[in-house]
Amino acid sequence: MKKMIDLIIGARPNFIKVVKLNRLLRNHFNVRLIHTGQHYTKEMSDIFFQDLKIPEPDYVFDVGSGTHAVQTGKIMVEYEKLLLDKRNDLTLVFGDVNSTLATTITAKKLYIKVGHIEAGLRSFDKTMPEEINRMVTDTLSDYLFAPSVDGVNNLLNEGKNRKNIFLVGNIMIDTLVENMSFVKNINIEKEFKVKNFSYIYLTLHRPSNVDDKKRLLKIIKFLNVIAKKYPIIFPSHPRTLKMIEKFSLMNEIENGIKIIQPVSYLKSIALQMNSKFVITDSGGIQEETTFLNVLCFTLRKNTERPITVLNGTNRLIEPDISEVERIFNFKVKKPEKIKYWDGKTSERILKVIKNIL
Ligand code: UD1
Repeated sequence: MKKMIDLIIGARPNFIKVVKLNRLLRNHFNVRLIHTGQHYTKEMSDIFFQDLKIPEPDYVFDVGSGTHAVQTGKIMVEYEKLLLDKRNDLTLVFGDVNSTLATTITAKKLYIKVGHIEAGLRSFDKTMPEEINRMVTDTLSDYLFAPSVDGVNNLLNEGKNRKNIFLVGNIMIDTLVENMSFVKNINIEKEFKVKNFSYIYLTLHRPSNVDDKKRLLKIIKFLNVIAKKYPIIFPSHPRTLKMIEKFSLMNEIENGIKIIQPVSYLKSIALQMNSKFVITDSGGIQEETTFLNVLCFTLRKNTERPITVLNGTNRLIEPDISEVERIFNFKVKKPEKIKYWDGKTSERILKVIKNIL
């Protein structure tokens, strides 16, 4: 009998990571693709399934939004029901979202093995919900699939057993490599009414940036100065839009900043590739810009992806108006190739899993 593997997806970055692995695993195992429903709207979820041709999930929990405890708790309840009804042999979780944490705890309490894809990343900042999710998930997981050497080192420093750590590379790059030809068909100039390499692509959604009025206003003022030189295309995450409205900050945003709906995966990559540079607080975009050799300014004090700064095109910045000139004069040196960021991470994970199960 074929072994049963659960693949857990819940939020936007998970959908991007699951694409190829889901396909490969199905040739060897019974796979249940489980969507927790953490992200549920057309722009945050459906569009990724269409764009990336991800098959319909086998189970959808529809947990929706809520506080961390509510969201995590609801996912645990739903996943436990499924596991009690029909157990599996391995649960595979991705990244650092609440769905990752919730399903890891649930599986482990039912003595089910867990593999964590994107293990070992650390910002060393426990005020980030994602850091807590990463730490707990790595502590409980049986198999730790690290995207880069710094991840491996973090896990070893925390006392994890070397034989459970697998350096497999960055699974997001698999999807990027596979979809490059579709990305190249996108005409940014026509679609977004800007000139290539003369606009800035912005994404912003971290609670530390958008949940505090003073910080959010400081960022808006900083962006207003930048937008005087080049237009900013800003597909706004629902969290950010909600906060801008809650704090009545919409009037502070000047014309050069073009707020649009969240964009699809393919458009997000095309917007990065054709931009003058990117400003973001997303984890995935720090990695994608490094792979694409696009300059990226990350509006954070720290990053759990230091390899994108050391070997890549990423720079951490503060939203200070005094930084603007430095940003425009910044020259990138050609990034170094990062080991196993080559589009074949899913194959490496499959090989490990075939050995384990
Ligand atoms: C989550 C992840 C974050 C990841 C991000 C990618 C956690 C702790 N955080 O943050 O690591 O970078 O996803 O997008 O898991 N909302 C909608 N439609 C949706 C989903 C959410 O309108 O489809 C709104 C909800 O009102 C919610 C807010 O966005 O209150 C935040 O959503 P949530 O999933 O709680 O966290 P994210 O900020 O998206």
